[in-house]
Amino acid sequence: MAHITSASVLALNGGERVRTAEWPTYDKGYVDLNDGDESAALRAIKSRRLFRYDNRPHGETEVARLEKELAGFFGSPYVLACSSGTTALALALLGAGIRPGDKVACPAFTFAATPSAIMLAGATPVVVEVDENLHMDPEDLQAKLTPDVKAVVVVHMRGFASDIERLVSIADAHGVPLFEDAVPALGVDVGGRKLGTFGRAGAFSTQSDKTINTGEGGFLVTSDRDLFERAVVYSGAYERQIERHTDPSPPTISDLSLPIFSFRLDEIRGAMARHQLIGLERRVATFQDNYRYVASHLESLEPIRLRQPVAEDAFLGESLNFRIPGATDRQVNWFVEALQAEGIGTRALGDDSRPNNRCFWNWRFLFPDETRQETMDHYRRSTTLLKETLDIPMSITLTKADCDDLVAAVSKVCDASY
Ligand SMILES: Cc1ncc(COP(=O)(O)O)c(C=O)c1O
Repeated sequence: MAHITSASVLALNGGERVRTAEWPTYDKGYVDLNDGDESAALRAIKSRRLFRYDNRPHGETEVARLEKELAGFFGSPYVLACSSGTTALALALLGAGIRPGDKVACPAFTFAATPSAIMLAGATPVVVEVDENLHMDPEDLQAKLTPDVKAVVVVHMRGFASDIERLVSIADAHGVPLFEDAVPALGVDVGGRKLGTFGRAGAFSTQSDKTINTGEGGFLVTSDRDLFERAVVYSGAYERQIERHTDPSPPTISDLSLPIFSFRLDEIRGAMARHQLIGLERRVATFQDNYRYVASHLESLEPIRLRQPVAEDAFLGESLNFRIPGATDRQVNWFVEALQAEGIGTRALGDDSRPNNRCFWNWRFLFPDETRQETMDHYRRSTTLLKETLDIPMSITLTKADCDDLVAAVSKVCDASY
């Protein structure tokens, strides 16, 4: 008979917890901010100019410098900073001329901000199923691309790249633009090319749990001059401020031809983002190293299946997602409770006692005439996969000891579940 110690008895059953310290997450203040960020914010405040359009030459403002530095980072000609990832995506769609009533495809697994941004642009989201690794399913996309679908939004959800090259070729064959909601994947490459540069435009966020953290904020990246100019106006460039963005050539549109939505970024966030961009590669490496370490210890454990990347290193590693194939809601909830009792902050994506905004069936604004069950039944495959999935945040501040706790806790619970 195996020797049973209190350390091997689940904390759920009165055994010793793997960890007693709280699980670090951004909302508890576990973020990577340093003196340089503080100085950058102060520099902007001391300039006494907090609004992005002021009396200085454009190239001397923090936000314009950020845009230029980001353009260099992505190797893209145009970057527009704005107030959030949601507005970056909406501005990209609006800039591309998506019109009220157009349909726009997006995956069943994404934060509610993605369909919300599509609706902010006046369009109607069309939900596409996800595959067993929770990426947009190329075959279902193909099936959903009817003539009234005018664009595709691919999401690199939880920092894992979608099968972007294949999805781009499907959108191309259908003759519609593809946009990347790359909000959770800033700094990730696929085949040496940065996510956010594969489609017509890429949208990013600098909200607090992203690779660059300015509290709120975002930007879009594009090579499409027309889209860029239109997005600049929509973002709130009034009274010829657009000329500052297109200098030395004049804009090709009149800024009076479009409404302005005031989705601008301010100088304090611009200054902080510039400082954090300098350390971006280090941040990405920290996330990826931690993730690789944890995944290497868990990849062959039964009964879980780790989410698989579409290519080597095609992930950020900001969270650990795994499925328990075939598990019932009760079994998944047991797993979550067992991990929580061991001291690991864990959620089941499909836990309906705490509806998760990342599961399509909780986007009630999209399906007002259906019950939640009817919505789930329409996308059976995604429902099953999402309900089997656990979600564990892996903050930028995780130490080797935190990663070891995560490995120990998941291993312990896996052992006990068999
Ligand atoms: C996939 C995805 N898209 C869009 C957003 C929205 O970004 P923001 O909060 O900056 O609007 C988020 C936020 O976390 C997200 O995860």
